[in-house]
Amino acid sequence: MDIRERDSVARVLEEQRPSVVFHLAAETHVDRSLDDPAPFVAHNIEGTFQLLEAVRGYWGRLSASERAGFRFVHVSTDEVFGSLGSEGLFVPESPYDPSSPYSASKAAADHLVMAWHRSYGLPALVCHPTNTYGPFQFPEKLIPLMIIKVLSGDPLPVYGEGLNRRSWLFVEDHVDALRAAAERGEPGGRYLIGPAQDHSNLEVVEFLCDLLDRHAKDLPKRPSRNLITFVADRPGHDWRYAVDRKATEAALGWRARRDLASGLEKTVRWYLENRSWWQDILERRYRGERLGQPVTPAQDGGKLGRDGTVDAAR
Ligand code: DAU
Repeated sequence: MDIRERDSVARVLEEQRPSVVFHLAAETHVDRSLDDPAPFVAHNIEGTFQLLEAVRGYWGRLSASERAGFRFVHVSTDEVFGSLGSEGLFVPESPYDPSSPYSASKAAADHLVMAWHRSYGLPALVCHPTNTYGPFQFPEKLIPLMIIKVLSGDPLPVYGEGLNRRSWLFVEDHVDALRAAAERGEPGGRYLIGPAQDHSNLEVVEFLCDLLDRHAKDLPKRPSRNLITFVADRPGHDWRYAVDRKATEAALGWRARRDLASGLEKTVRWYLENRSWWQDILERRYRGERLGQPVTPAQDGGKLGRDGTVDAAR
């Protein structure tokens, strides 16, 4: 259901009577937020508000001991802290500095959650995971997109020079961290969730190419590295994300178990064995075209509509 439908959410809460709510419902893709920010404001901000209100009503009717044990685990992102240079790490005290409509909408949602904790006592906490990957990821994201393009023999669009750096978190490690946050996290707490190392996008894409050369029998083109194509950069592209995990590890007793090499291998095998899952998406929902290249006033000679829309200009 749409989380903005507060009454429907309230009905499900009354039926299911959860002791934890994990809030992962969001618009997630930075490039899509550049093309059209409206759904990000609608679902990530308004949606979080309506969900919080439904949960606050349900939580307020629990017994005192159930209220104390209840947790609202809000899944944010490390992107709310903006961009790092080549040194340093985000820490729980890092100031908010979002760059994209996506990360700004997630930042707004975080502030709502923390305000509901401080003002109403809702036992909520916020998790800031790094880039997540693994089976079943929608092929708009870097890793599945590159796997699918190699299997199709298409060029691999690497933004800029491929030197931007990300910290990759295998989906099962991410789930373990959220479970630990629900069990051991403090209401009002903030938890950075990620691996020890970050990698350049080019390193990740090259590693994927080599894995596919080894594991895929029917590649249209080899070696896959020859498909790498440097394309125009993402507007406002954050340079680097990396988190200091020490406080989270101490508080939650969690640490990422899967290293990037084995996580990518598992992911590649999954996409090889589940072609019909992603081929169906390519046919019906997303064909792998470039996203996130909005027309700006500078590029179109100031012809944008007064409401800031670009349709007329296009
Ligand atoms: O850091 C956590 C965030 O990670 C989450 O909050 C977001 O929901 C999630 O989408 C992800 O954001 P990114 O923008 O970092 O992920 P994405 O897979 O879109 O891009 C990863 C990097 O790869 C980024 O530096 C842009 C680059 N890239 C991406 C695509 C899709 C390319 O070079 N080529 C591409 O075609």
